[in-house]
Amino acid sequence: MKIGIDRISFYTSNYFVDLKTLAVARSVDSDKYYLGIGQEKMGIPPPDEDVVTLGASAAWPLMRDGELDDVELILFATESGIDQSKAAGIYVHGLLEMNARCRVVELKQACYSGTAGLQMAIGFVARNPGKKALVITSDVARYELGSPGEATQGCGAVAMLVAEQPRLVAIDPESGYYTEDVMDFWRPNYRSEALVDGKYSTMVYIHALLESWKQYEALTGRSLSDFDRFCYHIPFTKMAEKAHHKLCRKLKVESSKEQMDALLEESLRYSRITGNCYAGSMYVGLTSLLDTAEEDLSGRRIGFYSYGSGCVGEFFSGVIQPGYREFLHADQHRNLLEKRTELTYQQYEDIFNYGVPTDGGEYVFPQYKTGPFRFSGISQHKREYESLVE
Ligand code: HMG
Repeated sequence: MKIGIDRISFYTSNYFVDLKTLAVARSVDSDKYYLGIGQEKMGIPPPDEDVVTLGASAAWPLMRDGELDDVELILFATESGIDQSKAAGIYVHGLLEMNARCRVVELKQACYSGTAGLQMAIGFVARNPGKKALVITSDVARYELGSPGEATQGCGAVAMLVAEQPRLVAIDPESGYYTEDVMDFWRPNYRSEALVDGKYSTMVYIHALLESWKQYEALTGRSLSDFDRFCYHIPFTKMAEKAHHKLCRKLKVESSKEQMDALLEESLRYSRITGNCYAGSMYVGLTSLLDTAEEDLSGRRIGFYSYGSGCVGEFFSGVIQPGYREFLHADQHRNLLEKRTELTYQQYEDIFNYGVPTDGGEYVFPQYKTGPFRFSGISQHKREYESLVE
C-alpha cells in the first residue's frame, strides 16, 4: 500500500526584509547574502503572528477544501514552542474546528521534527487504514541582531495531509538515519534567540548527510542517478548546494553548476525569499519544487535529506504521483509571496524587539496583516487567538 503526502499547503508572514537593506545596516557587501549564502529576503512575523497562527493559516486551505474530516492525528512540529505544557497543535485544532476524535501532540528535535512527524504519521496511517494524519511544521527562526545567523532568519509553516494512495508523493519505506550528541545549534529555555556554532553546524549537517546516505544506499541499492530531484533541509540555499556537492564528491559523481541547478534549483526558490523555516524548511523546498517545476514530475523519484541540529539527520525518498498538479495550492502560494509588504530596517528592528510580554499582564496586540487567524492578545496568562474567517 502506498502511503505519503496527499496534500501540502504553505504559509509565511506577510512581511519581509530585503537582505540588501540588512547589508546596508550591517555594513556588509550585499553579495555576501545574495551570492555567498544564497538568500535574498527574510520573512518577519509581526507581533500578532506566532507558530499557532502560521500553522493554522497553512492548514486552513485543506480545511476549506474539506480534506481534514478523516484526520485523527495532528503532529505539530516546532522548535519555537509557546508553552511548556500545552501542545500548540491544540490551538490549531480549535481554530480549524476539527473533530474531537483526534490525537494532538507537539514534536521537537530542531529542524528534524517535521520529518519525525511525517514518518510517525505514515506509521499511524498504516495501522489505521482509511484514517489520515495532519503534520504541521511551524517555526520562527530568530538569531541575535548583528550575529552571523541573522541573515538566515525567516518564518513559515507547512501543513501536510498524510494518507493512503497519496495524490502528491508516495514515501518509500527505506530510510537512512543518524543521531549524534553535538552542540552546533541550540536555544536554552531562557532565551528567545538561538545560539549557534555556525561553521561547525555546517560540518555536522554534511557529516550526518554522508552517514544517512551510506545507510540508505545499503538498504536500497540505489545510486544518485536514481533521483530526478533532491530536497534538502534549507537553513540557507547555499547550504543545500554545498551539501549536494559534497555528497557527489564523496561518491565520485560529477556535479557541475548546470547539473546542480537541474536537480536542486526549483526546490530552493521559496526558501531564498522566506528564509529558514526550521522544522518546515525541507517541506517548503518540496512545495517550491512541486509548485514551480515547469516539467511534469509525475513518476519521478525525489531524494530528501532532513537535518536537525543537536543532531539527527535522515535520508529518504518518495515518488511523485501522476496528476499531482491538480492538487497543489501553487496560485495561492505565489499570491502570498508576491503581495508581502517590505519592511524598512527600523520597522524590522522595532518588530524584532517587540517580543511577547512575559510579565503576566493583560495585552491586546496591534492588528497587522495576517492570514485567516491572528494572535490577538494575552489575558490571565492565556494566549488569545482570533479567527478572521467569514
Ligand atoms: P558567516 O561566517 O558570517 O559567513 O556566516 P562567511 O564569512 O562564511 O560567508 C558566507 C559565504 O559568503 C562564504 O562562502 C563567503 O566566501 C561568501 P563559502 O566560503 O562558505 O563558500 N562571501 C561572499 N560571496 C560573494 N560576495 C561577497 C562575499 N562575502 C562573503 N562579497 C554562517 C555563515 C553559516 C556561519 C551563518 O550564516 C550562521 O551562523 N548561520 C546559522 C547556522 C546555520 O544556518 N547552519 C547551517 C547548518 S545547521 C542547520 O541547518 C540547522 C538549523 O536549521 C537549525 C535547526 O536544526 O534547528 C540552523
